[in-house]
Amino acid sequence: MNYISIAIDGPAGAGKSTIAKNVANVLGINYVDTGSMYRTIAYYCLQNNIAFDDQEKVIASLNQINIQVKYIKGEQRMFLCDEDVTDRIRSQEVGNGASAVGVYKEVRTKLVALQQDIAKSNSVVMDGRDIGTFVIPKADLKIYLTASVKKRAERRYAELIAKGLQANLQQIEREIEERDYRDMNREYAPLVKAEDAVELDTTFLDIDDVTNKVIDLYRR
Ligand code: DC
Repeated sequence: MNYISIAIDGPAGAGKSTIAKNVANVLGINYVDTGSMYRTIAYYCLQNNIAFDDQEKVIASLNQINIQVKYIKGEQRMFLCDEDVTDRIRSQEVGNGASAVGVYKEVRTKLVALQQDIAKSNSVVMDGRDIGTFVIPKADLKIYLTASVKKRAERRYAELIAKGLQANLQQIEREIEERDYRDMNREYAPLVKAEDAVELDTTFLDIDDVTNKVIDLYRR
């Protein structure tokens, strides 16, 4: 059986999840959001008073962290030790924590294994930071999505407000810059455009246009 794989990478707020979800819907395949997996580890740390920069403790806790990805009514849900945490991991604090714990090689090794397992037995549109370069280097199509920091901050802000969460635009912009820097400069599997990825700048593009463009590229 041949499975389809589409890798969508890029910095926070470039529109990865919306576009990946739309493409997965149109093609009738699974959308896999890998950021949620890093967020689940960060959430565990917050719950257990483990500082994100306490490398030893974060790594030691990996044995206790049982992460499961389930598809319920076609939607990805994250389970941490059998508890559904999907809706609790969307805050900016958890997102920043995900970027911080994603620096550790041991964290990445654990999650990459989970991601590769899913891609081995399902057709997927997977989004993240290292999908085309590291997780599925032989993906059928690789997309690298970008947008200006300002535009990305505005999108994140609108997303948080729509979810009824508190947000401050300037703070989000600062945090996005910090997060970009950390994600792009970490030693192990940093965020970088794969050589064979198609780069799309979404600053002035409509989400539907980008979705159609990705589907077009895939069909070609
Ligand atoms: O896509 P997101 O905002 O949910 O991701 C949160 C953080 O998780 C991101 O800033 C870095 C980390 N991450 C990663 O290191 N590798 C991935 N494949 C996905 C996310």
